[in-house]
Amino acid sequence: MRTPIIAGNWKMYKSIKEAFDFVTTLKDELAPYTAVERVVCPPYVALTSVQAALAGSGVDVGAQDVHWENEGAYTSQIAPGMLQGLVKYVIVGHSETRAFQGVTDEMVNKKAKAALAHELRPIIAVGESLETNEAGETEAFVGKQIRAAFADIPAADLANIVVAYEPIWAIGTGKTATPEQANTIIGMIRGVIADLYGDDQAEAMRIQYGGSVKPGNMVELMSQPHIDGALVGGASLKVDSFVELVKLAIEAKGL
Ligand code: 13P
Repeated sequence: MRTPIIAGNWKMYKSIKEAFDFVTTLKDELAPYTAVERVVCPPYVALTSVQAALAGSGVDVGAQDVHWENEGAYTSQIAPGMLQGLVKYVIVGHSETRAFQGVTDEMVNKKAKAALAHELRPIIAVGESLETNEAGETEAFVGKQIRAAFADIPAADLANIVVAYEPIWAIGTGKTATPEQANTIIGMIRGVIADLYGDDQAEAMRIQYGGSVKPGNMVELMSQPHIDGALVGGASLKVDSFVELVKLAIEAKGL
């Protein structure tokens, strides 16, 4: 049985104070719901105070990105060693970093490997554009992203990796993939992992769905057998809706 993981990606929202106040309330509200893993990914500047506020709460912290080098002349970037011990997870390959920062499949692979080398758990995000989707090329495109992201990653590291399938056309648009569509693509991703590492590894891999996840569509999405949680933007920014998503995931998975 795969433990579902619900992660809030705050993107560029919340000041340091807002982040601290938010998690101070959130951790108490989430305390009873331990059957799923719960993660918040604030902006970098809030990581230290959020991590301190959540220490011992069972709610984990993630960063939204990481560079692949340990140090160097990379203005604006954050090295994996700087995050080690501070966060448990790091999102790599989010479509917004691919679109606005020129992150390529090869960089996603380097980021994932650098994260793993520093005891950080990558959440590897993949997903296709509307154009690719409408051209019927989703499976080929996402399959290629997955193969590139996992290049040279040994099987021994797989237990520390989460995949997030986020169709770009569903992010922040209010449009979600239908639960069946999301399940089909996530099943295909599991198939690619099986091809690369074998059935047992694929069966154990946690794969989230992301893109306009909200309380109103959570049960349907989480009722799908291949969907192991959610990477949530907008609906993770309010305590009530984040808690509701966690509760609904537990209900849908019968935990
Ligand atoms: P929304 O939930 O706001 O659509 O964002 C999804 C996302 O990009 C999470 O990483």
